[in-house]
Amino acid sequence: MPDEEAQRTKGRLDGKVAFVTGAAGGLGHSHVRRLAEEGADLVVVDICRSIDTVPYAQSTPEELSEAVETVRGLGRRVVAREADVRDRAALQEAYDAGLDAFGRIDVVVANAGIAPLLVEDRVQAWHDAIDVNLTGTFHTVEVAIPSMIEAGQGGSIVIVSSTAGLVGIGGASNGGLGYAASKHGVVGLMRSYANNLARHSIRVNSVHPTGVATRMVADPAMAEFVAQDPMLSEGAPNALPVDTIEAVDVSHAVLWLASDEARYVTGVTLPVDAGFINRR
Ligand SMILES: NC(=O)c1ccc[n+]([C@@H]2O[C@H](COP(=O)([O-])OP(=O)(O)OC[C@H]3O[C@@H](n4cnc5c(N)ncnc54)[C@H](O)[C@@H]3O)[C@@H](O)[C@H]2O)c1
Repeated sequence: MPDEEAQRTKGRLDGKVAFVTGAAGGLGHSHVRRLAEEGADLVVVDICRSIDTVPYAQSTPEELSEAVETVRGLGRRVVAREADVRDRAALQEAYDAGLDAFGRIDVVVANAGIAPLLVEDRVQAWHDAIDVNLTGTFHTVEVAIPSMIEAGQGGSIVIVSSTAGLVGIGGASNGGLGYAASKHGVVGLMRSYANNLARHSIRVNSVHPTGVATRMVADPAMAEFVAQDPMLSEGAPNALPVDTIEAVDVSHAVLWLASDEARYVTGVTLPVDAGFINRR
């Protein structure tokens, strides 16, 4: 193959391995596809069962299998586990299974998250948002750090936050406040990890999507919740003329942060928001 042709077909993550949580969901499956398209092998994790305070369904084991098939269909290797990011031991087991299979993990995408926005408000919704979105992200990074440092090859950690991690949106419900607090909380984690891990050339950044057309937003129960809260439902939220963006728009940003193209980018909160934040 001529040099130029070889260059063109080279993936941006060739030889790398990525660990992705919430991998069976709307954004998660999209990240998995995009990372695999660029040459990464994958370690994928999802809870694969619903959570009581969340009004829309979480992914099923079949949907996790679909994510696995996506990776295989792209000619990459994959290790998959059903695990809850709240369960540190289960998450460590999943991570270690990937490490055993591939010998390295270079990229971590802490994507699993819930929006427990209930019309019938419950304090438990606050706890679940904090446990999954904030503590789950902490667990996801913690299980990865020792092997990434030991490998001495640097790496990239991408935390999926939200526009609700940068401005005071989310409404006044227990779950909405928990969502906003947890999505702001992961920014504190991101900034601290970015400083702590820089000397190991491990970069840590967060992405902040506006509404994406996944189950989290499109489910009728969520539409009902948003409609009854004037703060959430008023006006067109984005500056650019688009109601919701596509999952792949966020995955492109995740891929860039994961790749060596962003090798000197760390500690950054990157909105993928069609101008939502700038408009506030
Ligand atoms: N959809 C949006 O509008 C939007 C906007 C901003 C940020 N986000 C964030 O993007 C991320 C992905 O959301 P999505 O839109 O793909 O939602 P989704 O509901 O389609 O997918 C979330 C996935 O995470 C999994 N999951 C939930 N709890 C888990 C747990 N405890 N352990 C392991 N897996 C778990 C679910 O099974 C599901 O597969 C979330 O962190 C969310 O907060 C979404």
